[in-house]
Amino acid sequence: MKTKVLMVCLGNICRSPLAEGILQSKVDFDTVLVDSAGTAGYHVGNPPDPRSVAVAQKYGLDISAQKCRRFSRTDFDEFDFIYVMDRNNFSDIASLARNQQEAEKIKLLLSEVNVGIHEVPDPYHGDEDGFEDVYQMIDLACEAIAKKLN
Ligand code: 4NP
Repeated sequence: MKTKVLMVCLGNICRSPLAEGILQSKVDFDTVLVDSAGTAGYHVGNPPDPRSVAVAQKYGLDISAQKCRRFSRTDFDEFDFIYVMDRNNFSDIASLARNQQEAEKIKLLLSEVNVGIHEVPDPYHGDEDGFEDVYQMIDLACEAIAKKLN
């Protein structure tokens, strides 16, 4: 059975689509499945933000076919690990957990690395540089996760 990892942010168009694409590219496709979701439903059905698509493309990843979806409580049944980008995502998801075992699946993505900050900042209202920074920190965290999973 595959290990299943879910990446979660607010909109599921900027940060978590990058995290999905980056981690999936670093793990064995036959044994690890990576997906992403948002805590909010503003962009459901949409592709990732063009700025996330562009920065992924710069590093050789195509995330353009991803489709935004909202996190659902049933994701706790499906996924083994749930990585959130910031503390707001953490509390939003934790409030949906039905028991301790589900709550324990949730981790801040940057808890996997030592980069001096604990949250992946929301780049949505900023410029392209913000997307580059976010890419780099997500990449470091996914490298650490992939080492554990592979
Ligand atoms: P994300 O960024 O959580 O990294 O996907 C955002 C995308 C959209 C919005 C906020 C954050 N929004 O307010 O529409």
